[in-house]
Amino acid sequence: MTHETATELIARSNRLGADPRNTNYAGGNTSAKGTDRDPVTGEQVELLWVKGSGGDLGTLTEQGLAVLRLDRVRAMTEVYPGVDREDEMVAAFDYALHGKGGAAPSIDTAMHGLVDAAHVDHLHPDSGIAFATAADGERLTAEAFGGRVAWVPWRRPGFQLGLDISEIKRTHPDAVGCILGGHGITAWGDTSEEAEANSLWIIGTAAAYIAEHGRSDPFGAALDGYAALEAGERRAKAAALAPHLRGLVSTDKAQVGHFTDSAEVLDFLASAEHPRLAALGTSCPDHFLRTKVKPMVLDLPAEAGVEESIERLTALHEQYRTEYAAYYDEHADDASPTMRGADPAIVLVPGVGMFSYGANAQTARVAGEFYVNAINVMRGAEAISTYSPIDDAEKFRIEYWALEEAKLQRMPKPKPLATRIALVTGAASGIGKAIATRLAAEGACVVIADLDLEKAQAAAAEIGSTDVAVGVQANVTDEAQVQAAVDAAVLAFGGLDLVVNNAGLSLSKSLLETTVADWDLQHDVMAKGSFLVSRAAASVLIAQKLGGDIVYISSKNSVFAGPNNIAYSATKADQAHQVRLLAAELGEHGVKVNGINPDGVVRGSGIFAGGWGAKRAAVYGVPEEELGKYYAQRTLLKREVLPENVANAVFVLCSADLSHTTGLHVPVDAGVAAAFLR
Ligand SMILES: NC(=O)c1ccc[n+]([C@@H]2O[C@H](COP(=O)([O-])OP(=O)(O)OC[C@H]3O[C@@H](n4cnc5c(N)ncnc54)[C@H](O)[C@@H]3O)[C@@H](O)[C@H]2O)c1
Ligand SMILES: [Zn+2]
Repeated sequence: MTHETATELIARSNRLGADPRNTNYAGGNTSAKGTDRDPVTGEQVELLWVKGSGGDLGTLTEQGLAVLRLDRVRAMTEVYPGVDREDEMVAAFDYALHGKGGAAPSIDTAMHGLVDAAHVDHLHPDSGIAFATAADGERLTAEAFGGRVAWVPWRRPGFQLGLDISEIKRTHPDAVGCILGGHGITAWGDTSEEAEANSLWIIGTAAAYIAEHGRSDPFGAALDGYAALEAGERRAKAAALAPHLRGLVSTDKAQVGHFTDSAEVLDFLASAEHPRLAALGTSCPDHFLRTKVKPMVLDLPAEAGVEESIERLTALHEQYRTEYAAYYDEHADDASPTMRGADPAIVLVPGVGMFSYGANAQTARVAGEFYVNAINVMRGAEAISTYSPIDDAEKFRIEYWALEEAKLQRMPKPKPLATRIALVTGAASGIGKAIATRLAAEGACVVIADLDLEKAQAAAAEIGSTDVAVGVQANVTDEAQVQAAVDAAVLAFGGLDLVVNNAGLSLSKSLLETTVADWDLQHDVMAKGSFLVSRAAASVLIAQKLGGDIVYISSKNSVFAGPNNIAYSATKADQAHQVRLLAAELGEHGVKVNGINPDGVVRGSGIFAGGWGAKRAAVYGVPEEELGKYYAQRTLLKREVLPENVANAVFVLCSADLSHTTGLHVPVDAGVAAAFLR
């Protein structure tokens, strides 16, 4: 059963973490001290419940807490070897744990354990960090809070910072908390309610002080020509730039992107001071670990053309990489981990918005959120003072900290399709849905395009959050809708790598029964639809210069002359030849184009449920519900083909193992000799 102190702490943490004004995502930590029975001696012992490494306050559960023996945490001050060797204390926390389970103790455990208060909150609120990064933050803290909040000069998080804060608390008996220079806030209380109230009071007082005493235009005057473009224009330009940008920022390793055009971002970029401020970079350790020391900023007005912007971004990217390497060289010593890549995580485009990048969609989105936090911090700091983040040497000490490196090394190996962005047409049902599900399970971000938006979104929601899968509406026969779907994919995840032409439908009719409308519909959806999707996607793939895959879900019927199937089979043969033609044409761009010939996938297929099954059953003279078995019996392997079998083949074609295969069709039909390829 959860200890009541932990229950209370979790509730407080969830409340604090639910409001983005209180702390950034996964930032900050909270703690409570109390007593419980030691199962070894039966005696009551003092314990520290503290949010462990990783995880987010807003969604903290008991598993996210580390529980430590308070006497043992405090005893560490006796063996503490001094600030130069403070990192050694992190491993010592493991020897102070009370029982197993829960989360690993974080670097901030010392602060929580050493501060002499029953309840402690350490948070990263934008308003508090504005004070923490103001050039005269110490004076402003005294002015805004009177003696109630103390100032702690910047120090990298660790054991010594814990000692500093505990000393501040001891020497400032009237203080309810402190501003940690360059970093955030820490508040305390005798009860959980008191700590929470003190945290909120510091955050609210800081915000109110900025509102009351701050300049009205902290980012300076409006910059001529830098105002936000109209929403439609903005998104169109963002979609046009995104593939090129993703290619650039994936120079060292492939990244997924996220696009934000919120008012905070656009206002910042429309103001005179944004180049100076952006160059200063972010400050709170959490912020810049995610955003890189500083963003890359396009120095062209909103109206600049796409071509001109791309040319300039390419030059700026080169410059960014050179400067990042110089920053690394200047600060690295023999013990530093090797450089992790010199590409930016944040790219700002005036009038358009912000692209943020990371190893997956969630990381990319959170990097963007953190830069919005940084904008808020800069606005607050500039309103009351001059924004003055920690210097590059300190940033480097955090970015290439041995403890941070160890955390990265502990991260699980990426899944096979991590960083790859897939678009699957007709994926709200049947084979397409199975393909989307499999690609997502292998680490890809997936865009499900289908006729009906709600169905597309419902299928995406079954697969995962919008960091994993999104649904978009697109009739693949419509050029503009196809372009819109590709744009939506590019804006959702930053680009596109893997396209599956799966949308289809089937009318089983003899030559004499087939109307011109039947013929046109089949050809429009499959032959023309695939052409439109491949064309729109290829322009993204070519711009990215990251290669890619296009897979056609063709059919056994593309080579097999089955009965009563003229329009469907002819358009499937068209798709099959598109595979060969595009493999030949796109090879020079590193784009592989392959096809799959399924057959007899009855289960889950809307095509079969929608009348085709009944007709095929009639053609073969079997009851409709026996059709799957009938198909299985006529195969060489006597196996029924399921949507998942087709999905498996798509995965294999796109996986690294088939990196040298293009222009191929893979039958997924359990063996149909009449459809053997030669
Ligand atoms: N089921 C089989 O045995 C079989 C065999 C060989 C090939 N295929 C091919 O596999 C693909 C998927 O078939 P399924 O059996 O999963 O069928 P399904 O009906 O379950 O799925 C097809 C999806 O495509 C969508 N779609 C139809 N027209 C569209 C359009 N104009 N724009 C966008 N989306 C559209 C539908 O809404 C549906 O969600 C088709 O291309 C089909 O020809 C199926
Ligand atoms: Zn912190």
